[in-house]
Amino acid sequence: MRKPVFAANWKMNYGPQETRGFLLKFLASYPPRDDRTVIFFPPAVSLAVAGFALRDRPDVLLGVQNIHWEEKGAFTGETSAQMARDCGATVALVGHSERRQLFGETDEMTARKCAAAARAGLTPLLCVGERADERDRGTTQPVVMRQLKTGVGRLEKTQLASMLVAYEPVWAIGTGKTARPEDATIVHSAIRRYFREALSGSADSVAILYGGSVNADNTAELIAAPEVDGLLVGGASLDVDTWTRIVST
Ligand code: PGA
Repeated sequence: MRKPVFAANWKMNYGPQETRGFLLKFLASYPPRDDRTVIFFPPAVSLAVAGFALRDRPDVLLGVQNIHWEEKGAFTGETSAQMARDCGATVALVGHSERRQLFGETDEMTARKCAAAARAGLTPLLCVGERADERDRGTTQPVVMRQLKTGVGRLEKTQLASMLVAYEPVWAIGTGKTARPEDATIVHSAIRRYFREALSGSADSVAILYGGSVNADNTAELIAAPEVDGLLVGGASLDVDTWTRIVST
């Protein structure tokens, strides 16, 4: 059995002071437990403060929401994987649908970012998912598989085996609509099959998360769905009591 993963994607919320306050409150009400993994993705400017707040809690991981694929240079406004590492991050979110839709991130860019993350020692968490029109056309699986194959295309087998994937249907993000657990299972199973083939064997070490309007009331049902190894949570991760309930499910 894989340990369930609960990941909080804060998006553009919580600067350093709010991040520190949230994490101290959360850690006080969530004692260490080894049967699950919790990951926080604060904004880049809050990473250092978060890394410091989490320094004595190796059970709670830190991740960066976005990285550039180059190691350094003239890329105004960008953050490198190594810089996130320096702040204590061990995971990098790549290809979130907001990056793809609002900032023009292509499948090829996600591939470069996954490779840059892995090179710097960060575990990539690649997000994939279809838009409403793609779902309505019945193209969910081809879209997800294209994003997945291209996104992981520059990774070595050992990096593939330890990565994280999040299936986040775009129509479910921030809308209050969630995929039915059985529909998530179908897509997660296809993702797992892809990894089995790519790794020529077991893909048990790859955690496949679901994301899209997860809240404290639907967490139990979604996390219990076959092939759902964890949850990537946006809005509902911003309230410390709600988030504590979710990770304690
Ligand atoms: P949501 O966002 O939980 O607010 O739908 C999820 C995500 O974008 O990762």
